[in-house]
Amino acid sequence: MSNPSLLILPGDGIGQEVMAEVRRVIDWFGAKRDMQFDVSEDLVGGAAYDKHGVPLHDDTMAKAQEVDAVLLGAVGGPAYDDLDFSVKPERGLLRLRKEMDLFANLRPAQCFDALSDFSSLKKELVAGLDIMIVRELTSGVYFGEPRGIHMEDNMRVGINTQRYTEAEIERGARAAFEMAMKRDKKLCSMEKANVMESGILWRDVVTEVHADYPEVELSHMYADNGAMQLVRAPKQFDVIYTDNLFGDILSDCAAMLTGSLGMLPSASLGAPMENGRPKAMYEPVHGSAPDIMGQGKANPIACILSFAMALRYSFDEGADATRLEAAIEKVLADGVRTGDLLSDENSTAVSTSGMTDAILEALDASL
Ligand code: IPM
Ligand code: MG
Repeated sequence: MSNPSLLILPGDGIGQEVMAEVRRVIDWFGAKRDMQFDVSEDLVGGAAYDKHGVPLHDDTMAKAQEVDAVLLGAVGGPAYDDLDFSVKPERGLLRLRKEMDLFANLRPAQCFDALSDFSSLKKELVAGLDIMIVRELTSGVYFGEPRGIHMEDNMRVGINTQRYTEAEIERGARAAFEMAMKRDKKLCSMEKANVMESGILWRDVVTEVHADYPEVELSHMYADNGAMQLVRAPKQFDVIYTDNLFGDILSDCAAMLTGSLGMLPSASLGAPMENGRPKAMYEPVHGSAPDIMGQGKANPIACILSFAMALRYSFDEGADATRLEAAIEKVLADGVRTGDLLSDENSTAVSTSGMTDAILEALDASL
């Protein structure tokens, strides 16, 4: 059987630096755990625009459809702010999500013990926090038609459309219930059924799907209340299921509970391919951070944890995913810190590659 294939799309800004570190981790698993991957690399975002005049070349899109998993860094940067909307770096990312049909975006927000002091919330509210947000990723207001800016009575009007079919709500809901079954069997669905018809449908469909998962305790919450509850008492949640736009906002909110955006991975999963693996793309939740790019300051952990998610969800290597996560936890407990994680007298400040050095050492020690 041929090796599983990985397409690496570092993208822009710190995406390139952190992905270089992930490649070192991939090489470690090749050398020490006999897990060989066929790795190829290509351009996305501003980097693709610079070369091809589009944020994602058709050839890259075709490759992404064929590989077992895509690993993406980050896209965007000030150099691209004035580009036409249709070729902005973000359009490359959105095209990948849409055309690969990656409808279930898993965004874990986990607070590492060693970092519970860095949260903007009180330590006792976040210590041990472990939430999974399942965000619908291929529909809703991000993609709904009609959209655009047009003139009406001499005035500009901007339009976007929140649109969900029951099939779209249902497949994401199944992913969320399945996730809850593997965790604490609690699911909270968030929408705005008090003001949006799409929210009423969302609530109805999630309730219908619940019939197939009677062991899961289901609750519903308006998304604004959800935002409030996330900062009031975040540990009340296990799995949250929500739409594309609410999920974008609530996941940033949940991310910050953990202390740093530099720590959070994500997985975007679609339907199973012929070989049984889901269509999949893995990316850190953080952006391209142009202000710190090229200085060795970026935290590679979110991107490395995204590779751990790939091991778990694409390659069925849950034990090695846990090995990698445990190595990271160990390094943090030892006080190894990149600049985004404020350090104190008990910690050691390291560069981007210094963090990976420490992680690889901890991996060696795990054998
Ligand atoms: C995210 C990002 C993207 C989104 C942007 C970069 C298009 O904020 O993945 O959360 O809005 O989905
Ligand atoms: Mg976002």
